[in-house]
Amino acid sequence: MLVGVDLGSGHSFDPTLDELALLAESAGDDTVARVIARRKAPDPALFIGSGKADEIKELVLVHRADGVIFDQALSPAQQRNLERHIGVPVADRTALILEIFAQRAKSHEGKLQVELARLQYLATRLVRRWSHLERQRGGVGHRGGPGEAQIELDRRMIGERIKSVKARLDKVKRQRGTQRRAREKSGTFRVSLVGYTNAGKSTLFNALVKARAYAADQLFATLDTTTRSLYLEALGGSVSLSDTVGFIRDLPHKLVEAFQATLQEAADADLLLHVVDAASPGLQEQRDEVERVLAEIGAQDIPQVLVYNKLDRLDPPPRALSDWAERSPGVWVPRVFVSALQGLGLDALRGVIVQAASPEGLIPPPLSPRSVDPTSAEPVDSPAQNGSTRALPSPT
Ligand code: GTP
Repeated sequence: MLVGVDLGSGHSFDPTLDELALLAESAGDDTVARVIARRKAPDPALFIGSGKADEIKELVLVHRADGVIFDQALSPAQQRNLERHIGVPVADRTALILEIFAQRAKSHEGKLQVELARLQYLATRLVRRWSHLERQRGGVGHRGGPGEAQIELDRRMIGERIKSVKARLDKVKRQRGTQRRAREKSGTFRVSLVGYTNAGKSTLFNALVKARAYAADQLFATLDTTTRSLYLEALGGSVSLSDTVGFIRDLPHKLVEAFQATLQEAADADLLLHVVDAASPGLQEQRDEVERVLAEIGAQDIPQVLVYNKLDRLDPPPRALSDWAERSPGVWVPRVFVSALQGLGLDALRGVIVQAASPEGLIPPPLSPRSVDPTSAEPVDSPAQNGSTRALPSPT
């Protein structure tokens, strides 16, 4: 059973719970019911009100649900209280994302990163439970009971384990650094695919380099960075192309930290291909979220191309396959419409990559271009002052 809580403006809230359902499905769960609650502020004990908790308990019985997943982050106490109140396991979005990451990690590095994130998640829970117990018992004389000793032991073991995983990750990072320096020395132009999860990065990666990175209608199908050489005839040489982990709203901070090594690939790129699902109703929020994570990893100033993927699902289709879009106020970036699945628009995209890799780099339009609503039937006014971004005929 999925639960979303609307806490008003300033808090992320998805009234459809579609993304959470897709996350749950990616983790191997079936959604039997969705519940929406509204509150001015979260209840400290239950997150939702006790009336709503009773309602969920009823629904759990009716639908014979095995567990409840909240779209928002729960505190350890809220999670425990809810489990006690409802009578089935309760998880939050963070736990669900961690679960998916744990299932997907394939490489040594990926597995280490997931383990680190899980341990850190667990550590905060134990620490809080510990301080809660401390408060409850109080007084010096009551210290050191067996329960507390066990928790302290667990906490120390988790701390030790975190240290050892971090040391192993550091080693992998150093190796990756050596590989990166070798690539830098060879002067290879580095292109990284970034984008919201499920935008189609892996499909585009495959279409461009004809490799077989794992692409599936699941969130976070790709966890490990894959890098391949992409030959561009117009450039008379190759660039390196990397596929990276998908970004997602409320990506837990600790996870971003744990995945720093993977995300570093994006932060070190010469060009970012920001892939968006052009057919998604949440397109703008997803674009914003990716920009936020890019800023968090220090990649906000890297030249960017917006790749509007899933062109085949746009109705009506855009009138030109390339134009310019405003990335932030006054900052214009090339935008290319593609269908990674059907191989549409890939030449226009290759053209923009060639332009970016050329000594002049991407040349912004001289006049303020008109951004185009992809669903609008109006003709596109493309600035078209260089070959790579010339408006192309509509695919229809
Ligand atoms: P993560 O690994 O979660 O970050 O996903 P991703 O961005 O790598 O997406 P992926 O390539 O796995 O594609 C997600 C889903 O979108 C798959 O079901 C693809 O078949 C589908 N898809 C990708 N590109 C297109 C496209 O151009 N058109 C359509 N209709 N579907 C596409």
